[in-house]
Amino acid sequence: MPETDTLPTKNAIVQLPDGQTIELPVVVGSENEKALDISKLRSQTGYITLDPGFVNTGSCQSGITYLDGEKGILRYRGIPIEQLAEKSSFVEVAYLLIYGHLPNSKEWERFSYLLTRHAMLHEDMKHFFESFSSQAHPMAILSAMVASLSAYYSEASGVASLETFDLNAVRLISKIRTLAAFSYKKSIGQPFIYPLDSLSYCANFLRMMFAVPAEDYEIDPELVSVINLLLILHADHEQNCSTSTVRVVGSSRANMYGSVSAGILALWGPLHGGANQQVIQMLEHIQADGGNADKFIEMAKDKDSGFRLMGFGHRVYKNYDPRAKVIKTACDRVLEKLGIHDPMLDIAKKLEERALSDDYFKERKLYPNVDFYSGIIYRALGIPTNMFTVMFTLGRLPGWLAQWKEMMEDPKQRISRPRQIYTGSNEINYVPMEQRG
Ligand code: CMC
Repeated sequence: MPETDTLPTKNAIVQLPDGQTIELPVVVGSENEKALDISKLRSQTGYITLDPGFVNTGSCQSGITYLDGEKGILRYRGIPIEQLAEKSSFVEVAYLLIYGHLPNSKEWERFSYLLTRHAMLHEDMKHFFESFSSQAHPMAILSAMVASLSAYYSEASGVASLETFDLNAVRLISKIRTLAAFSYKKSIGQPFIYPLDSLSYCANFLRMMFAVPAEDYEIDPELVSVINLLLILHADHEQNCSTSTVRVVGSSRANMYGSVSAGILALWGPLHGGANQQVIQMLEHIQADGGNADKFIEMAKDKDSGFRLMGFGHRVYKNYDPRAKVIKTACDRVLEKLGIHDPMLDIAKKLEERALSDDYFKERKLYPNVDFYSGIIYRALGIPTNMFTVMFTLGRLPGWLAQWKEMMEDPKQRISRPRQIYTGSNEINYVPMEQRG
């Protein structure tokens, strides 16, 4: 019998320094991932576990996304990302992630219809845009606007509830692209373009971004398919920083809009989704500096330089990120089709080649991640640099919603509340001001 078949019935025995022993149940996932269940550890022994950055901590059991970082595998609900990237659409993937299966034609029609129906914003929300500085980062605007949605939909504004989940999920998936496009239009001083019911999800987004009232706007199916591809590749990535944020915030029973708004801010950080903007800024900087890739590889290896190779490295991938592989191939194809030669792509490829043959990167298993090449495609589509992380947000939203729903449906779910090891002062007395030195 394979070892794993016996694991669920066996416990791990842990011997503690004070002589106590505890049996910890072993939990095995459907892909044979193993965990020690420490939920009774403190109540039975007084010990907690310490794991800064949650490097070894499983925060939940989840049936949504499977990721094997050593082998470079990523699957949504069991389906390999490569198949979804080739054959599916973003709306279908959103449904798959949230509801656990690919939609049949009836489910597909209903879901698409609802997404179309909910694309408009409440007219009053337009005034919010007027109050933001034109310099405001679109991620700041997007997070604020998503939180504001809970003020417009009374059934979503209070305590989190699964009863209204379906309605609020389609509302949010639909409206977030309108909010994203409006925040771009605001930043360049152009009038807002309203959604058009006859268009598909991604075509509608492109039109709201790039059409102007004075001219006809022709939808390029090639661009639509690239946007679909990029959104699919970003749609979920199990318990990453922003998804964990959505779960942590939601665990207090904060409403869905508030939970997602917090996730957007977590995603904005340069070590997470904000890396896609940082990559292009880095490539531009390298180009302006003369384009010497070796110099920047050396800097990335020097801990005192303060420079990291953005778009490289990952907490869980110790192999080539499968999303980056698909994006790199798409990048060549899209640029060729659009007849664009982008020197940033040459620099990126040179950096990758140098890094992958360098011992520093090899020893640490640092490979290009999803953000390394995505910005080059966004640039080719005419999407400005400060909107790159917004694009990541549009893609990641169905994943956040699926994870939020799964958490809410889990009968074992409790408020997220980690513990700590206190290292501050022991008890001392209050000193009145006149007696302080
Ligand atoms: N350039 C140079 N050195 C690096 C890099 C990099 N991009 N990434 C990791 N390292 C080194 C790091 O200095 C450390 O070296 P040492 O063992 O000598 O101290 C070692 O590799 C392990 O790195 P770490 O920081 O402990 O790894 P982590 O799992 O805590 O962080 C990461 C993962 C993604 C934050 C990090 O690799 C990084 O900062 N990368 C650049 C930012 C980036 O591209 N982020 C996007 C991540 S993918 C999309 C997403 O999840 O949003």
